[in-house]
Amino acid sequence: MTEINVKTKKPYTVKIGNGLLQKIGEELKALGLDGKALIVTDDNVAPLYLATVKESLENKGFEVFSCVIAHGEESKNAQNLINLLNFAAESTMSRTDTFVALGGGVVGDLCGFAAATYMRGAGFVQLPTSLLAAVDSSVGGKTAIDLEAGKNLAGAFYQPELVLCDIDTFATLPKNEFSNGMSEVIKYGMFCDSELLDALASDSFNIEKTVARCVEIKARVVADDEFDKGERAFLNFGHTIAHTVELLSGYKTPHGSAVAIGMVAITKAAVEAGICESEALICLLPLLKKYSLPEACPYSVDEVYKAALKDKKNAHGKITLVLPTAKGESILKKCDYHELHKIIELGLK
Ligand code: NAD
Ligand code: GLY
Repeated sequence: MTEINVKTKKPYTVKIGNGLLQKIGEELKALGLDGKALIVTDDNVAPLYLATVKESLENKGFEVFSCVIAHGEESKNAQNLINLLNFAAESTMSRTDTFVALGGGVVGDLCGFAAATYMRGAGFVQLPTSLLAAVDSSVGGKTAIDLEAGKNLAGAFYQPELVLCDIDTFATLPKNEFSNGMSEVIKYGMFCDSELLDALASDSFNIEKTVARCVEIKARVVADDEFDKGERAFLNFGHTIAHTVELLSGYKTPHGSAVAIGMVAITKAAVEAGICESEALICLLPLLKKYSLPEACPYSVDEVYKAALKDKKNAHGKITLVLPTAKGESILKKCDYHELHKIIELGLK
């Protein structure tokens, strides 16, 4: 098992390894937690892992409740948040009781936001079961729901007490969901870790080491900029154009595929602009292929540009882009809209 400490204001540990779901009860006890636990999960994950988590908690004396939502992004909505809060209140949970997110990023974001707002903050642990949740959404404390006007528009920073990542759960993950997660893994390599890129390209791929490396990077970035005021933007490598692809496709293009397309576009643009060594692109393209991810953007420069102007990260007429400079290296650059247009033009050539 690998343990990584996240040094945020409220510090916590991420544990990554085999057979960890069976140990959730003892892990929570060891943290001094007791009382009630509300497991939030979805209808794909529940038949696979809910009973194990429930049993482990009950064996350690927790009174366990569970709430199963429909799988998919549509569930990350205001109605489900209110339903969860009402359910917690009807179950007479107190703020010292614990919300347990068992699932992918949808469950984690929704459950985390409920934990953040229930009685102004209850206990919260993350049990990520998708690769994306393991390497990204379960760490760092961003919780959210989607509004009619867009994704993640209401949320809170709320760090968990613990993240327990049982890598055995990836055995049941559909292949396309594994690819989605791999896109974020490649992202970490692209913006700051050329050794990770080499490991991903090699045949000695080790999932525990890979997840651990991504979590180490995320933990470092988040500890330096917990509230997303600066350096945390590095985590958005490839994401500006990715968000436009998601928007233009009516959210039909999966996030991981969109990030792959976004990473190619920004890397091409940086190479074309002469600020990035071509090795970065030469490394990225075969990796995307290896992990069944797309590279070509199906939208025009103007479509992408117009959609990028709607990005919620735009501020004061500028947008911060993560530009690669070499394989495994990048910088942050505040661009005005003219520069943004130029970059999209170069990236989609
Ligand atoms: P998801 O939660 O929808 O999970 C993907 C699919 O895999 C779902 O159908 C789910 O039921 C299924 N699944 C999950 N684990 C499984 C398993 N072990 N076996 C079988 N099926 C399994 O999506 P995701 O890709 O995990 O997360 C995407 C969400 O995360 C988005 O809402 C995104 O906005 C959010 N996100 C949040 C952050 C953050 O920092 N909070 C970061 C990145 C993404
Ligand atoms: N997924 C981006 C972040 O956590 O900031």
